Amino acid sequence: MTLAQNWTPESWKAFEARHLPHYEDAAELAAAEATLATYPPLVFAGEARALKKDLAQVAGGHAFLLQGGDCAESFAEFHPNNIRDTFRVLLQMAVVMTFASKKPVVKVGRMAGQFAKPRSSDTETQGDLTLPSYFGDNINGIEFDPAQRRNDPQRMVRAYSQAAATLNLLRAFAGGGYANLRQVHQWTLDFMGRSDWADKFSDIADRIGEALDFMEACGVDPATVPQLQGTSFYTSHEALLLPYEQAMTRQDSLTGEWFDTSAHMLWIGDRTRFEGSAHVEYLRGVGNPIGMKCGPSLEPDALLKMLDTLNPAREAGRITLISRYGHDKVEDGLPKLVRAVKAEGHPVVWSCDPMHGNVIKSDSGYKTRPFDRILTEVKGFFAVHRAEGTHPGGIHIEMTGQDVTECVGGAVAITDDALGDRYHTHCDPRLNAAQSIELAFLTAEMLNQEAAAQQANAA
Ligand code: PEP
Ligand code: CO
Repeated sequence: MTLAQNWTPESWKAFEARHLPHYEDAAELAAAEATLATYPPLVFAGEARALKKDLAQVAGGHAFLLQGGDCAESFAEFHPNNIRDTFRVLLQMAVVMTFASKKPVVKVGRMAGQFAKPRSSDTETQGDLTLPSYFGDNINGIEFDPAQRRNDPQRMVRAYSQAAATLNLLRAFAGGGYANLRQVHQWTLDFMGRSDWADKFSDIADRIGEALDFMEACGVDPATVPQLQGTSFYTSHEALLLPYEQAMTRQDSLTGEWFDTSAHMLWIGDRTRFEGSAHVEYLRGVGNPIGMKCGPSLEPDALLKMLDTLNPAREAGRITLISRYGHDKVEDGLPKLVRAVKAEGHPVVWSCDPMHGNVIKSDSGYKTRPFDRILTEVKGFFAVHRAEGTHPGGIHIEMTGQDVTECVGGAVAITDDALGDRYHTHCDPRLNAAQSIELAFLTAEMLNQEAAAQQANAA
């Protein structure tokens, strides 16, 4: 990547910044930023480049992207078991999809930094009290209490520490033996025992075990092949809180290129991707792979302009476009974007976020997402790419390894009445472990059909 012109880590300040918190005390903010600026980077330039290379494979149709994790990480749910369980469900999903498609799956967590949230309203009213909305644990607290809802810059420093500890554990899991393919049976979660998908996963695990036995007999085993011993796992979050991202920006000593070292991949949300946006300005200057959410209000011309700004060199792997239309809008809305990008020759990864266009309020009053609508959107996404001759490159989901009750439906059949049982999310409803595995199997079927169609076309 060539260095962006007229850019500095703080050039975004001259642009329109939506959804940024107002801090009452400028000195307090400056002190927190100064602290962060002295802290070690969480990721290195070389790792961000490695992810970009992997994503270039996805853009070329040779791999698939799986991006998932919490809607919002929280200080309250920070626990090694939560990190482990989300990580292992992502591994299980990746195994299911690799096994079906025979293509590598690039794994990216919404983890180790996914704290800040854009909100539709600046304030929340309960009874006759109105307070600022909750904007994520790196900004203020979720409790409906004036002191908690104050924007506190020191929360960024705490978020950094939690991100560092989370990333440390993820690195250990990915490289320290937990992700060894020989462990594939051990990744199964106890409560999955109830679901049909658990049996299906067990079948795949058996077949992988047999394949490994065979390979070992031929002299290929995990002790000698690093790809079998561990895996690559990357982190990502929405680059919303620009003071935090700016403080984590570092120059690569080898190339002079700037990187946002708070995560491997950063994305721009649907509400901050507009012409003249401070968020677009910030991200155009860092060398990381960049995601951008594409919702119903995005017009092809505006998208092409942003692609020229964010990826003038048209580097494959640099841009992932994450469509999030809603189950009933994707087939009408997405084709015009796909056509424009294809005609213009921009190399992108197309990924599907089937979560954010499918939020409803349930009769019981909870914000939820019906599993069948999530699945319908993924199917619509595959259908559009089949029709346009482009690669349906990935899925982007909000999920957890816990047995929560936040999205209705799925084979585990979470009902509206059951939502209150274990509704723990700090923001949007997440797929639980069983629903995530189910979605992986159903997506794997679509990947299979995709491969069959490609073969038929080639014949
Ligand atoms: C999110 O991914 O949590 C989010 C807020 O999504 P979007 O920007 O697509 O609404
Ligand atoms: Co969300």
